[in-house]
Amino acid sequence: MADAELGDDVFGEDPTVNRLQAMAAELTGKEAALFIPSGTMGNQLGVLVNAPRGSAMLADSLCHAFLYEAGGAAVTGGVQLIPIVTERGMFDGADIERLLSPDDPHYPPTRAVSLENTHNRHGGVVWPPARLRATCDAAHAAGLRVHLDGARIFNASIASGVPVRELAAGADTVTFCLSKGLSCPVGSVFCGSAEDIHEALRWRKLLGGGMRQAGVIAAAGVVALETMVERLAEDHANARTLAEALAEMPGVTVDLTRVDTNMVFAQVSDAAAVAAGCRDGGVLALPLTPTSLRFVTHHGVGAADIQKAIAVLGEVCGG
Ligand SMILES: Cc1ncc(COP(=O)(O)O)c(C=O)c1O
Repeated sequence: MADAELGDDVFGEDPTVNRLQAMAAELTGKEAALFIPSGTMGNQLGVLVNAPRGSAMLADSLCHAFLYEAGGAAVTGGVQLIPIVTERGMFDGADIERLLSPDDPHYPPTRAVSLENTHNRHGGVVWPPARLRATCDAAHAAGLRVHLDGARIFNASIASGVPVRELAAGADTVTFCLSKGLSCPVGSVFCGSAEDIHEALRWRKLLGGGMRQAGVIAAAGVVALETMVERLAEDHANARTLAEALAEMPGVTVDLTRVDTNMVFAQVSDAAAVAAGCRDGGVLALPLTPTSLRFVTHHGVGAADIQKAIAVLGEVCGG
């Protein structure tokens, strides 16, 4: 980052940003890419580029775009997200068929779908690649555009053994985060056709996301894409170790079938109390509901740390 070659990215003249964008386009198999501050902005662009104002977009009911983006689809996009209740964050062509708006002035016309892979609130689960492709194809057959919230698409790729470009092939646009498992301090990338990225560039400006000498942070993204992808397998193995230990503890329930990647969701009787006990022992966990907690493994947490975390949790949960 200190040595990054810089320019003004609002004029498209930051060589490090341009390099990162070219790498991202190549990895996702799209024509072009745009460096943006956050995954939330990536999903905003996914709405703005794919669904016109006054239209509807289908998405899983626990997806990030629906739950955690301050209503951005409605506020900046004027788009109504139609939440689909699913088992594991995944839906199929039949769901799309069922929920397509009729040609009736009472309804916003359905114009797009948004898919999340891996799916955060469903436990970091990975879409089976064939199902992901089939849902994308069904959306296209219904005349809809497809946005893929691939905040953790590299985790999905490592877990499924399928390259990111194949996972993204059925989507019109895909966003991924550099700042999660890929370990950058900040940044995401939005990828799509040259035409979509041209439009996204204007929306990024409107949202206040045009950054000047952004190569300082893009440089970390270049390093991440070159060196931090394959090691995600370690995070997945560490999450599995933690999950299996947690599942044995009294008063803790873990659905091991959902531990596909770097997350572990645990059901407990009092999530705030468990999180507080963990914090005192040096382990951070996020209470998601009064009775559920999320643990995430990452580059800063090695196998030995997992053993320490298990010991702390054993004391907190009395296991
Ligand atoms: C699936 C998913 N999409 C998007 C985001 C948003 O990313 P950011 O925090 O960079 O805005 C997150 C953040 O947790 C996420 O889990």
